[in-house]
Amino acid sequence: MVDVEKSAPRIAVIGTGAIGGAVVHRLLGDGRHVTVWNRTEGRARDLVVAGALPAQSVREAVSSSTLVFLTLKDYAAVEQCLGQLDMDLSGQTIVGMYTGSASEARQAAQRVAGLGAQYIDAGIQASPEVIGTDAATILYSGSPEAFEQHRATLELLSKPRFVGEAPEAAAVWDLALFGVWYDAQLGLLRALETAHAAGINVLEFSRTASTQLGHVVAAVPATVSEMQQGIYPAGPADLTEHLTVVRHLIELRAGRRLSDGGLPEVAAKIEALIADGRGGEGLTATAG
Ligand SMILES: NC(=O)c1ccc[n+]([C@@H]2O[C@H](COP(=O)([O-])OP(=O)(O)OC[C@H]3O[C@@H](n4cnc5c(N)ncnc54)[C@H](OP(=O)(O)O)[C@@H]3O)[C@@H](O)[C@H]2O)c1
Repeated sequence: MVDVEKSAPRIAVIGTGAIGGAVVHRLLGDGRHVTVWNRTEGRARDLVVAGALPAQSVREAVSSSTLVFLTLKDYAAVEQCLGQLDMDLSGQTIVGMYTGSASEARQAAQRVAGLGAQYIDAGIQASPEVIGTDAATILYSGSPEAFEQHRATLELLSKPRFVGEAPEAAAVWDLALFGVWYDAQLGLLRALETAHAAGINVLEFSRTASTQLGHVVAAVPATVSEMQQGIYPAGPADLTEHLTVVRHLIELRAGRRLSDGGLPEVAAKIEALIADGRGGEGLTATAG
C-alpha cells in the first residue's frame, strides 16, 4: 500500500474561493498536506478548521510546496500573486486554474518558466460541487512531465484530460466548449424571444425547440467527419436552401433585443460559396 504521507507532494492552494475551496476539501479528504493562502484571510478560515495549514503570504505558501494551484478569479489575480515570488522554484509545478484567454495562458507559462518552475494550465469545465466526482471535467495543458508527475493528485479532482503541450491548449478547449454552450443557449433565447414577441405559447414552442437542439447533438459525429474529410454533403438541405432560410431569419430577428446572432455574415459566406459553384454542398462548408 502506498504511504500517501511520504509519496504525495506538499500542495499549496492560492485562492480559496468557490473552486479553490472545493479543491482544498477534496485534497484534505485524501489526507494530503495542503497550505492555503487567500487575499481575504477570513475566507480560508473554514479550510484551516478542516485541516489546511494557513500561510501568511503567497511566498510562504509556495515555498512550502512542490505543487501549487492558483485557483484565482482571473489572470490579473494570477499575475499579482506570481509577482510576489522572487525565489527559484526549480522542481516545483504551478497549475493555473482559472478561466482565461490563450494569450494569458502563454504569459502565465512564461512567467512561471522565469521562476524555474513547470507550468500546467487548467480549464475547469465543472462547478465547485462536482469537483472530485466523475461529473467534473478539468482540461490540462503545458508540461507533460509535470502532468505525469502529478497525475495522481490531479485525478483526485476529476478525470484529468491532458489536451496538449502548448500552454494555451486547455484555455482554447475551455473557451471553445463555453462557446458551444453560449451559442446554443443564446440561440434558444433568441428563438424564445421571437416566439414570445409573436404571441406564440412559449412553453408549447419550447418542446419543439428541445427536439431541434437534439438534432444538433445527433449530428455531431457526421459534422466532425465532414470537417475531417473536407467533404460537405448537402444532407437534408443544400446551401441554396439554407440561404433562403437564413435570409428569412435575419428579417424575423430584425430589431430584436439579442440581435441577429451573426447571421448576415453567415449569409455572405453562403452567397460566396454559391457564387463559387458550391451551392449543392451542406452547411459545414461554411466552416471549411
Ligand atoms: N465557480 C464555478 O462554477 C466555475 C466554473 C468554471 C470555471 N470557474 C473559474 O474558476 C476561477 C475561480 O472561480 P471561483 O468560482 O472560485 O471564484 P471566486 O469564488 O470568486 O474566487 C475567486 C478567488 O480569487 C481571489 N482573487 C480575486 N482577485 C484577486 C487578486 N487580485 N489577488 C489575489 N486573489 C484574488 C479571491 O480572493 P478574495 O476571497 O480575497 O476575493 C478568491 O479567492 C474563475 O476564473 C472562474 O471563471 C469557476
